[in-house]
Amino acid sequence: MATDPAPARRTSLHGEWSSRFAFILAVAGSAVGLGNVWKFPYIAGENGGGAFVLFYLLCVFLIGLPIMMAEILIGRRGRRNPVATMELLGNEEAGNPHWRLIGLVGISAGILILSFYSVIAGWAAAYILKGASGAFTGLDANGVSQIFTGLAESAAVTGFWHTVFMLMTIVVVANGVERGLEKAVRVLMPSLIALLLVLLGYSMVAADFSAGVDFLFAPRFSELTRDGVLVALGHAFFTLSVGMGAVMAYGAYLPDEHSIGKTAAAIVAADTGIALLAGLVIFPIVFANGLDPAIGPGLIFQSLPLAFGQLPGGSLVATAFFLLLTFAAWTSAISLMEPGVAWLIETMRLGRTAAAWLLGGTIWLLGFLSAFSSNLLSGFTFFRGTFFDNLDYLTANIMLPLGGLAIVFFAGWIMCRNSTADEIDPQAGRGYRIWRFLARWVAPVAVVLVFLNVIGLF
Ligand code: PHE
Repeated sequence: MATDPAPARRTSLHGEWSSRFAFILAVAGSAVGLGNVWKFPYIAGENGGGAFVLFYLLCVFLIGLPIMMAEILIGRRGRRNPVATMELLGNEEAGNPHWRLIGLVGISAGILILSFYSVIAGWAAAYILKGASGAFTGLDANGVSQIFTGLAESAAVTGFWHTVFMLMTIVVVANGVERGLEKAVRVLMPSLIALLLVLLGYSMVAADFSAGVDFLFAPRFSELTRDGVLVALGHAFFTLSVGMGAVMAYGAYLPDEHSIGKTAAAIVAADTGIALLAGLVIFPIVFANGLDPAIGPGLIFQSLPLAFGQLPGGSLVATAFFLLLTFAAWTSAISLMEPGVAWLIETMRLGRTAAAWLLGGTIWLLGFLSAFSSNLLSGFTFFRGTFFDNLDYLTANIMLPLGGLAIVFFAGWIMCRNSTADEIDPQAGRGYRIWRFLARWVAPVAVVLVFLNVIGLF
C-alpha cells in the first residue's frame, strides 16, 4: 500500500460539470433506465417477490452505494477515461499499472450490455407508435400478449427498432453532446416519475393493489433460491450502473468541492424509488388480470398496456410513457458507450465520430444475437437459455459484481487512507469511516459470499 501518493489535484481533460446538480442528473440519467422499469419487475416476478426485493435493497445500500462512491472518488482523482484513470492511480498508489485491466473489462461489459439493452429499448420505442395508434384500447390480457409476441417473434421488426435505437445512441455519442442531455434529463426524468405516479393511482384504484404490495414486500424466504440471491446482487450493480466504469467516467468531471457521499446517496435513493414505484404499478395489474408474475422479460410489455387500454386518454398516456422510457434507456445507453469511446479516442487516436461509429457499429452487429433470440434463434439455447439470456446473466451477475469488487477493493485496500479521505471528507468524519468500513469489509465480503453461495460452497 502506498503511503505517500503524489499530491492529487488534477483537472479533467474535458472540462467540468456546471454544478453538482448537473452531475447528479447525468449519473441519474445513466442509472435510471430499463433496469428500473423493465428488469426489476421481471426479475422480482421470476424470483418470488418479497424476499428477493429485500435482499436487493440490502445489496443496493450496503454494496452498491459504497461502490458508487468508490467509482466517483476514483474517477474524480484520476480525471481521465476509466482505463487511463485506473492505470494512473494504480501506478500512484501501488506502483502497478495493471489495474487498468479493470477499465478494459468494464468497457467490454458496457459493449455486451448495450448489445441486448438496445433490443429491449427498441421494443419500448416500437410501443410508442403502438400506444399512439390506440392499439391497446379495450384489449384483454390475451390481446395484449398477442401484440407483444407479434413484435418479439418478428426478427425484422425487432431488428429494425434495435437499429433505430443504436443509431440514436451513436449520433449523440458521436457529437459529444451527452452533456447537453443534462437539460433534457432535468425535464424528462420528473415527467417519468409523474407518469408513474398517475399509473400508481390507477393500480391503487382499479387493480389489485394489496396483492401487488404483498408480493413485493412480504418476505417469503423459502422462495429465494441461491440463484435468486445472485440475481439480486447483480441487479444492484446493473440498476446503479456501477462495476464497469460508467460512473467513474462521469466522476472525472465532478468539481473538487462537491460532497461525494451526499451526491451518491441522492442518486441511489432516486434510482431505488423509481424501481419500487414501477413494481407497485405493475404487480397490481399483473394480479388483477391473472397474469403470471414469472412470465419473464416481456412482463411490462404484457401488463402495462392493460392499464393503458382502460384509462381515459389511455393512448396518450401509453405514448408518453413509452416515449419517456425510451428516453431513459437512451441516457443509460449513452453512458454504456461513453467509456469505450473515450478510450478509443485517447488510445487509438481516433476522432470522436469515428470512434462512436466503430464501437456503435460493433455493438449493433452483436445486438442481432439478442434481437434474434426471441425469433430466428429462439431454439438455440445453452447454459442459461438464449443468447439474450446468457448475455444478460454474464454481464449483470458476473462481470459487474467482479468489476465492482475490484473497484471497491482498490479504493478500500490499495489506495491509501489519505487519498480516499481527501476525496470523500478530509476531516475523515463519521461518514467517511462508515464508507471505509463498508468498502473494505462489507461490500467485498458480501460479493464473495454470494459467489461462493451460488456455486454451492456454503
Ligand atoms: N443502470 C442502467 C439501467 O438501470 C443500465 C446500465 C448498466 C447503464 C450499467 C450503465 C452501466 O437501465
